Amino acid sequence: MKHKIAVIASALFMALTITACGASEPASAPSVAETDKAAVQEKLNKQDSNTDETKADDKQSDNSAVTTQAETEAPTDSDGKNILVAYFSRADENYNVGTIDKGNTQIVAEYIASEVDADSFHIETVTPYPADYDDCCDVAKKELADKARPELNGTVDNMEQYDIVFLGYPIWWGDMPMAVYTFMDSYDFSDKVVIPFNTHEGSGESGTYSAIGSYLPNAQVLDGMAIQGKTAQEFSSDTQQSVSDWLDGLGF
Ligand SMILES: Cc1cc2nc3c(=O)[nH]c(=O)nc-3n(C[C@H](O)[C@H](O)[C@H](O)COP(=O)(O)O)c2cc1C
Repeated sequence: MKHKIAVIASALFMALTITACGASEPASAPSVAETDKAAVQEKLNKQDSNTDETKADDKQSDNSAVTTQAETEAPTDSDGKNILVAYFSRADENYNVGTIDKGNTQIVAEYIASEVDADSFHIETVTPYPADYDDCCDVAKKELADKARPELNGTVDNMEQYDIVFLGYPIWWGDMPMAVYTFMDSYDFSDKVVIPFNTHEGSGESGTYSAIGSYLPNAQVLDGMAIQGKTAQEFSSDTQQSVSDWLDGLGF
C-alpha cells in the first residue's frame, strides 16, 4: 500500500514539476526518413572526397577547430573531421537526477562525437546558470519570456569546415535554452546538415526540431533524437545503444 502511494506521489510530482518547468508532451521516438539518410550520405561522400584532396595536398597541419575559454578541444588530426557536435548542457542540481557532475545532454553528445569521430563544442554562457534547480528554472523562464540571447563563452573556429552539425540541448520550458538560439545566430548554417538531439524529462522534443528548421532556413535540418535525461545519466548502456542505433539508421 505504502509503495502504491509512493508511486502515485512520484508520478504526480513529475507531472507537476515538469508542467511548472514547461510544457509536457509524450517523448518522440526517433525516426529516420530516407531523405535524412540521403542528406547524411551526400555530406559524408563530400567529406571523403575532401579528405582525399587534403591528403593529396600533403595534409594541412593546423586545423584547431574548436575552442572555448573553459576548454580547448583542438582535434589532433583534421582528416575527415567535418562533423561537429555542438551542445548545451548544464550540470549541478537537476530534475529527477539530483546533483550531477556532467549534464545529461553532454553524456549523449560525447557518445555521438565518439561514434562519428567528430569535434565537439560545449555551448556555455558567460554568466553561468544557478546551480540550484528552482533558481535555474526562474532564470530560464525569464530568458524565454524576454527572448534573451545570452552571451556565449568561446567560439567555433572555422565553422565553415563543418558539413554536418549535431546540435544538442535539454528542453527548458518546452523550448531550447536561449543560449542555443545565440549559438544559431552566431554562424552561417547555409548548406549544412543540422541534426538535432535533446534530453528532457517528459516533453520529448517539444517541437524544437521544426523550430530549428524554421530558425535555420538555409540549413537542411533532419529529424532528431530525444532521450530522457535520467536515462542518459543513469543507464549508460541503454543510452549508448539508442545513440548507436539512431546513428546507424542515419547512415553513419
Ligand atoms: C530550467 C529547466 C527547465 C526545464 N524544462 C523542462 C521542460 O519543459 N520539459 C521537460 O521535459 N524537461 C524540462 N527540464 C528537464 C531537462 O530537460 C532535463 O533534465 C535535461 O535532461 C537536462 O539536460 P542537461 O543535464 O544536459 O542540462 C527542465 C530543466 C531545467 C533546468
